[in-house]
Amino acid sequence: MGHIVLSGIEKSFGATAVLKGIDLEIRAGEFLTLVGPSGCGKSTLLRIVAGLEAQTAGDVSIEGRNVNGVRPSDRDLAMVFQSYALYPHLTVRKNMLTPLRLRDLTAWQRLPLVGRFLPGTAAKLAAMQQTVAEVAEVLKIEPLLARKPGQLSGGQRQRAALGRAMVRRPVAFLMDEPLSNLDAALRVHMRTELTELHRRLGATFIYVTHDQAEALTMSSRVAVMMDGELLQLDTPSRVYAAPADLRVAAFVGSPRINLLSGSLDAAGRVSLLGRTLRRAASAPPQAVTVGLRPEHLAVVSQGAIVSQGAVVPEGEAGETFAGTVRHLSYLGSDVFLHAALADGREELVVRCDPEATESLSPGDAVAIAQARGAALVFGADGARIPLGEAADAALEVA
Ligand SMILES: Nc1ncnc2c1ncn2[C@@H]1O[C@H](COP(=O)(O)OP(=O)(O)O)[C@@H](O)[C@H]1O
Ligand SMILES: [Mg+2]
Repeated sequence: MGHIVLSGIEKSFGATAVLKGIDLEIRAGEFLTLVGPSGCGKSTLLRIVAGLEAQTAGDVSIEGRNVNGVRPSDRDLAMVFQSYALYPHLTVRKNMLTPLRLRDLTAWQRLPLVGRFLPGTAAKLAAMQQTVAEVAEVLKIEPLLARKPGQLSGGQRQRAALGRAMVRRPVAFLMDEPLSNLDAALRVHMRTELTELHRRLGATFIYVTHDQAEALTMSSRVAVMMDGELLQLDTPSRVYAAPADLRVAAFVGSPRINLLSGSLDAAGRVSLLGRTLRRAASAPPQAVTVGLRPEHLAVVSQGAIVSQGAVVPEGEAGETFAGTVRHLSYLGSDVFLHAALADGREELVVRCDPEATESLSPGDAVAIAQARGAALVFGADGARIPLGEAADAALEVA
């Protein structure tokens, strides 16, 4: 349940094209995250799926049915927003009952006092109470049912809002930055809760966030968007390790991937900072950008590797970049060392073990080694150029 297909979705506000032809298939039961910088069109795309916004061109189909002209309430989707949108004057139980009352009771049956004595109302009310009890159990919010939103913590309110969305048993949950109002610790905790909830429900989740770490930790697949375009749709590990585009590589990962300018010659050799990569590319000669993740670099001192930041093969310690320590940023389990390279223009960020950097201070000279086979190469158009096996054993550098 919950198979959703978007084809050729375009959206313009006046003369501004906000979505430029999005094709995206969301598999039944998957946790798919739309991620990208603020303003790239994520919310607009989600609102089009929900039917809250009409697309300028393209089709939305849910469970094989084209829903282009179908009203939001008839799409069988549940939308959870960053503002919880709970009724403040109603208890959690009544908040959860409201969508069921609107869907299952007639206008007469909903009348105060009189309604409950009309035929059929009692049975429907009992079924609704049963549904609320079941959902409350899944979300572990039974003790909160009698409280009003003002008496709940941020995380509890979030769960109550989810509960209200869940009672209708939608084919898919659409969530637009639902954790952004929570403090940092609770946000990390709720990531785990949402992932577990997704596993328990087996429902389709479409989740929107600008936070790449949130996207990587929770999703089955990640759709990276930028400027109204879908740049890559892949598993979190593929998006991180094999980004299709320079913009994806730069957006995913924190601290950011190191990007250095290089060149690709007619023989397919990639050079940067006066050295040549072992692996060759089969692409025409051009200026390229070489991406090196901080964990694929290591600091080397007097021929020995002092940081465990990378898998640097023995014997390669001599093949290093010379740099000067600019800054050490301490994060507890890791230290990120920022080094200015000898040419003074480029800087590299290297992940290090805290113990390994204890003796280092800004201004110290360091040598930086690079893990073999880890460099990512992007062409002049931004697309990644795959590298093959070592073309020539003599090019024994990186
Ligand atoms: N109703 C609207 N009218 C005009 N422009 C809009 C409207 N809604 C969104 N936009 C514009 O569309 C772009 C994408 O917005 P949005 O989908 O909210 O991005 P995101 O959720 O990725 O931050 C932004 O430039 C935004 O200003
Ligand atoms: Mg948004």
